[in-house]
Amino acid sequence: MLVKLAVLFSGNGSNLENILEKLHQKTIAKNSYEVVLCLCNNKEALGIQRAKKYNLKSIIIDHKNYKTREEFDEVLVQKIQESKADLTILAGFMRILSPVFTKQIKAINLHPSLLPLFKGTNAIKQSYQSDMKVAGVSVHWVSEELDGGEIITQKAFEKHNLSFEQFEEKIHALEHEILPLSVVKIFS
Ligand code: GRF
Repeated sequence: MLVKLAVLFSGNGSNLENILEKLHQKTIAKNSYEVVLCLCNNKEALGIQRAKKYNLKSIIIDHKNYKTREEFDEVLVQKIQESKADLTILAGFMRILSPVFTKQIKAINLHPSLLPLFKGTNAIKQSYQSDMKVAGVSVHWVSEELDGGEIITQKAFEKHNLSFEQFEEKIHALEHEILPLSVVKIFS
C-alpha cells in the first residue's frame, strides 16, 4: 500500500526531517511512504527549510489569524483532508487541538516523556528534575485529552548522572528512533 503522511510542526522540525529521511519515498516491508503534506503554524519555523531540502513546500497556517481554536482547527482539517493523508503526525506541533480536529483526523503525537507522566509543554525539564531513575519518550494516538490517547510506542533509559544537555540529547535521539518505527508499526 502507498501510505500518505501529513506532518504538522511548529519550530525546529528535526522530527519532520527525520521522517523525510527515513520514510519519505521509501519502501519498508510491503508499504511505500509519501509525505503529502508539511503544515506549520509559524512562518519562522526552521522545519520549513528542512522540508525544502526534499523539495517539499510547507503550508503555513498561522493560528493568530483565527479567532477561535475551532476555526483554526477547521482549516487544519480541511488541508489534511485535501491531502488525502492516511495518517497525520504531530511532530512538535505546539497547539492544543479541539474536538473539531481530534474527532475527524487520525493522528499520532510524539511526546518527550514516559506518558502518562509529565504531560504538557515542560515535559523534558520535569522528567529531568523528577526523582525518577528512568526517563523516556512516547508516541500515542491523539485523543481529546492533551497527551492522553492510547500509547503506541515508548522507549525508556536510565538517567544516571546525565547533565541536562546530555539528557535532552538522549530524548531527541530516542524520539528520532521511535517516531518512524511507530508509523511503520501502525501500517504493518
Ligand atoms: C520534540 O521534543 C517533541 O517531543 C515535542 O516537540 C519537540 C519537537 O522537536 N512535542 P522538533 O521540532 O521535531 O525538533
